[in-house]
Amino acid sequence: MRRLLVDERVSSYELEQVMRILSGVQSSGYLHLGNYFGAIRQFVEMQEEGEGYYFIANLHSLTTVSDPVKLREYTLDAALTYLAFGLDPARSVLFRQSDVAEHSELYWVLGSVVPMSHLERAHSFKDKLAKGMRPDLGLFTYPVLMAADILLYSPDVVPTGKDQKQHVEFTRDWAIKFNQTFVPGYDPSDPNGERNARPGLFKIPEPRITEATAVVPGVDGQKMSKSYKNTIDLFAPDKQVKKAIMGIKTDSTPVEAPKPTLDSPLYALLQVLASPTDFQEISASYQRGGEGYGVYKLKLLELFHATFDPARQRRKELENDPAHVEQVLKDGAERARAVAKKKMNEVKAAVGLL
Ligand code: ADP
Ligand code: TRP
Repeated sequence: MRRLLVDERVSSYELEQVMRILSGVQSSGYLHLGNYFGAIRQFVEMQEEGEGYYFIANLHSLTTVSDPVKLREYTLDAALTYLAFGLDPARSVLFRQSDVAEHSELYWVLGSVVPMSHLERAHSFKDKLAKGMRPDLGLFTYPVLMAADILLYSPDVVPTGKDQKQHVEFTRDWAIKFNQTFVPGYDPSDPNGERNARPGLFKIPEPRITEATAVVPGVDGQKMSKSYKNTIDLFAPDKQVKKAIMGIKTDSTPVEAPKPTLDSPLYALLQVLASPTDFQEISASYQRGGEGYGVYKLKLLELFHATFDPARQRRKELENDPAHVEQVLKDGAERARAVAKKKMNEVKAAVGLL
């Protein structure tokens, strides 16, 4: 039994031909425009290109959410969001992170190859500290859990927003370090064993960042983020969407004057939502002057509804069938667990836990 596991670890992902894609979103608040353009849109598009593993990172959410009712609500919100935007459970695996215990298990084992210095220079950690968040162990070691999420599934690519790029880079470093430590004959210059080296136990994933929408600004001009309370939520009631959009920070440039485009969240959001031709017109009008910011905000509201109303409608239908959504998540967890368990057994064998 033990020998079989050791042999298996060499090739569990080598045999896979189809590109594997993995990503997650935290369930730490209602999902917003930044999550859509930075993450969900790509997930849905990419399911055409390969086998997708998409999950709701509810363990990560514990670093910011301490209300159990809210955590459940946000987790369901994330599931409904994925499905409303067309994630197809027949094609992709959709699951809750906490349903697959191997994520937490690998997190601990990986910890032994993670230098503290990496975690100390993690942008997301430093940003959150700068915002006055209380640093606890969960927040500090967050990237290690994220690396475990990724490495369990041997994905080829990990689509995310730009803010997560460093985390994927850490994941690559730690996977290499783990392979060097525990896989005899592993050569980091031939990580997948294409030139005869022993392939690593962990596949080295590639980040995929969509540059055009790499950072969607929030209504206050900082990165849009649930933790900064500056979001335009995808599925908020109409009134609330309007309130958020009308509240976007602008300056006091007079109506007749040309409007500054640099560091303007309104302008950047119009660029994200408008078609290139529409945006050219908006841009020309900004330079001409003559329109007040209110006009542009209403234009943004119109674009929001044109873009998201079909998904908003679909979500209403899904909300009426919670049993279906739960079943999708249960099936997804089962499929994910099968992959994760196999990898975790390989890890245990490699480090001497089996
Ligand atoms: P938040 O910052 O609101 O907590 P998450 O960290 O849960 O969002 O991010 C989920 C996904 O959405 C990640 O892939 C992240 O990179 C992407 N994302 C989040 N905010 C933005 C943004 N403002 N612009 C682009 N992508 C974003
Ligand atoms: N940290 C990611 C975020 O805040 C969410 C996440 C957790 C994730 N685990 C992941 C994304 C693994 C990609 C892969 O957006």
